[in-house]
Amino acid sequence: MHDALDVKVKEPVTFVIFGASGDLTRRKLMPALYTLFREGALANDFTIVGFARRDYEGAAFCELIGTALREYSRLPVEEESLTAFCSHLIYHRGDLSDPAAYSSLREKFEGDNALPANRLFYLSIDPGLIDPTVTQLSASGLITPPRETPWTRVVVEKPFGRDLKSAQALNQKLLAHLDETQIYRIDHYLGKETVQNILSFRFANTIFEPVFNRTHVDHIQITAAETVGMENNRGAFYDEYGALRDMVANHLFQLLCLVTMEPPDGLDARSIRNEKMKILGALKPAASTPEHPAGCFGQYAGDGEIKAFRKEDRVNPQSVTETFVALRMEINNWRWAGVPVYLRTGKCMAQKTTEIAIQFKAPAMQLFQHVACEGDICDLTGVKPNTLIFRIQPDEGIFLQVSAKRPSMQLVVESVDMDFSYSGRWTKDLPEAYERLLLDALRGDSTLFTRSDEVEAEWNVIEAILAEMAGRTPVPYAPGSWGPPEANSVHLSNDWKNE
Ligand code: BG6
Repeated sequence: MHDALDVKVKEPVTFVIFGASGDLTRRKLMPALYTLFREGALANDFTIVGFARRDYEGAAFCELIGTALREYSRLPVEEESLTAFCSHLIYHRGDLSDPAAYSSLREKFEGDNALPANRLFYLSIDPGLIDPTVTQLSASGLITPPRETPWTRVVVEKPFGRDLKSAQALNQKLLAHLDETQIYRIDHYLGKETVQNILSFRFANTIFEPVFNRTHVDHIQITAAETVGMENNRGAFYDEYGALRDMVANHLFQLLCLVTMEPPDGLDARSIRNEKMKILGALKPAASTPEHPAGCFGQYAGDGEIKAFRKEDRVNPQSVTETFVALRMEINNWRWAGVPVYLRTGKCMAQKTTEIAIQFKAPAMQLFQHVACEGDICDLTGVKPNTLIFRIQPDEGIFLQVSAKRPSMQLVVESVDMDFSYSGRWTKDLPEAYERLLLDALRGDSTLFTRSDEVEAEWNVIEAILAEMAGRTPVPYAPGSWGPPEANSVHLSNDWKNE
């Protein structure tokens, strides 16, 4: 992780994007590279090579990227800066399965006018093509030996497999050609500014850490609710993976690890990943009871403005894929034993919100229990348990809900927020997750990327969840809701926090 604000790539690098005409390149990768370029974070000697099958003659690739930047860049795109950015772009037409495409790419790293020799290969391609592409890179001599200069790094996008077996197989295949230190598995949640703040908040303050344990915490809730459905043509992919594999197996587990892990020995990648591994090893679904099942799967239905999932393009009309998951998990270690951790995510929900809420126990003695009236308004006075909220998005911030006496002659206690919001404290836009992560990969900092054993441990937990959920099919829920009402019984107090 970085200690200085002014973080730069100091070496010349060639950044090769496989899947250069794809959606991720247009929406995330190029805008992130453009911002890094504009902010002077890249060395002067850097080249971006777009590798794809389509034919872009002459300036056509730059035009394609210019259109994408105008739509998705968070910085203004003036002609002059676009021209300057495009002077670092080249297009390499090729088919991923064609060895000649790789040998012609290798030739570009040789001779006069060679590309910068350090190389980062970004695989923004179908998961099934990752292994054959890395095999071709290796066969054409494009992968340099580990821990040497010029270096090679390969960034891999999720999904990293579909279950434990396929994840292990993918890891083995990657590790046949690359060293673990050369593989950067991207989980974009780790690049979000607010997610990085979880560790700082926990371990740079003295007042919170002593109460982050089973003595003081009643339960933890992690929610990643989305309002989107199958936009951007995602039906076929999503029908194969579902909410558990698409969101829980990576993003939600990573949030859970950061908020519950022990203090690491240092801020280096190894120390942080080792602590996350311990949590994943101790994580399991809670035992189900008839009143409180450990999980609930849902699928959005409906005939209104939003189509039912089963009616989305490229989705099986009889699909039993879950678009919503609610889970009750446990962490079997000394710090967290007995504290339920609730996870919830879904598509087409009431509101876009990603947050972690840590609810503390009620005070040992209920002093404030009476009904008090102020004019015509009567309140059941009483302190609500304190809740600490990490709001990942939107309205990023950290909020502590405490009880305070309302100013009046009567003793009316109500819940108030002590808040730190990013927008109130800093006026600058928050960096995009991909800006941080691409910069880190270019600088060789793998802290915010997932190690192979972490990925396998994540799938191990998913398999335990699937075993616990065996035979349960998704319950329909209305688009625009907080999921199926049945999800309430997953929560021991039926009390999901809904903004
Ligand atoms: C992706 C999932 O990893 O994360 C998508 O594949 C999901 O289904 C997205 O929509 C959510 O990311 P964010 O940053 O919008 O919360």
